Amino acid sequence: MHGLFRTDEKDGGCQMDGSKTIALGGAIRAEWPLDWSKLTVNHGAYGATPKCVLAAQEMWRDRMEAQPSIFMRSILPDVLRTNAGALGSFLNADAQDIVFVDNATTGCNAVLRSLDFKPGDEIVLHGQIYGAVGKTARYVAGRTGASIVEVPLAFPGGDAAAFIEALGARLNDRTRLVIVDHITSPSALVLPVEAAVRLCRDAGVPILIDGAHGPGQIEVDLKAIDADWYVGNCHKWLAAPKGCAFLWSRRDRQVGLHPTTISHGFQQGYLSEFDWTGTRDATAFLAIETALAFHEKLGGMALRRRNADLAHQAGRLLADHFGTAYGNEAHPVAMAMVRLPFSGATSAERALALRDRLLDEFRCDAPLIAHPDGIWVRVSAHAYNEIGDYERLAGILDRLIRTDRAAD
Ligand SMILES: Cc1ncc(COP(=O)(O)O)c(C=O)c1O
Repeated sequence: MHGLFRTDEKDGGCQMDGSKTIALGGAIRAEWPLDWSKLTVNHGAYGATPKCVLAAQEMWRDRMEAQPSIFMRSILPDVLRTNAGALGSFLNADAQDIVFVDNATTGCNAVLRSLDFKPGDEIVLHGQIYGAVGKTARYVAGRTGASIVEVPLAFPGGDAAAFIEALGARLNDRTRLVIVDHITSPSALVLPVEAAVRLCRDAGVPILIDGAHGPGQIEVDLKAIDADWYVGNCHKWLAAPKGCAFLWSRRDRQVGLHPTTISHGFQQGYLSEFDWTGTRDATAFLAIETALAFHEKLGGMALRRRNADLAHQAGRLLADHFGTAYGNEAHPVAMAMVRLPFSGATSAERALALRDRLLDEFRCDAPLIAHPDGIWVRVSAHAYNEIGDYERLAGILDRLIRTDRAAD
């Protein structure tokens, strides 16, 4: 039994008591094993897994260790597919198009490293691509003689139409792949992925959507998006255990696509290749059904809207408090970007050092991010957050900024 939620020993699902109305914010904190003596407004970075989902994972681990051979050979293949089906229902996708990967980085690697690039080919990405994905693209380009073409993406400012126009201007007959984020990491902007897919389809260019932040934060309809590939994390906004992500591939893009680890299923089909990549602990994937049940129990779409509303209130509160900009106010996401009034030079190293001070000295987890015009905070809002968290954050940031100026 874990607070409001009971883990079913038999099938690992979370049994929810339907009669209870769930109060969010401080009222639901006991459902998470987070250290509540610290302020956590950074769900977007690594997610945070509730106790009942961890219990479901533990139950699967117990079954695995009770008889590994039976588990790996007879149980795992089926329950992996059952969980792919549950995820597919949530994302409007067919189970046969979804494979599990450890994280979004691995999923993007699988796509980038499966494609054959040659000298002169171009990979188009945007100026706020996630660091690890940008590095993978550069690695692949460096090994093959392809080149990287960057679409500028303004922050703050910039709009969907300007982005699509800038993207279109960079497509040509050398373009072999386009990578677009669903929600950008350093700026929490929702990019117009449907329009980007239509543009690429018309130009005959494949497009990979990096949706690391999408599922559970905003509505994701994979059939409507209809990209060539969509990679998403479940361990962020769906609060699945760490190491739970997926790759969705359009049917005609599944041929020739390989996981980063080649194993027994090589050239035996998409599911064979990805469902078994060697012996590993796949229990994070098997807890997806429970994570989805938990998400729905907390409100599903209503939870996603509530989190976006709370992030919006937080963004306004902080921007008003500091008299600065709320950079992604027009974007309905559960992360708000607010510029902070630090003095002195701006660099990624300085932002990281200040972030470490927040964690170590102020017991507060909030990412600080360097942009050309200054250092910004990206605050997240999940079920366990409430407006008081951001009021507390404002006071903590005041002290950090004051002590930083004094040390200058
Ligand atoms: C846009 C984007 N892509 C990829 C990743 C990497 O996710 P992971 O660490 O789960 O691989 C992140 C992480 O925040 C991200 O924001």
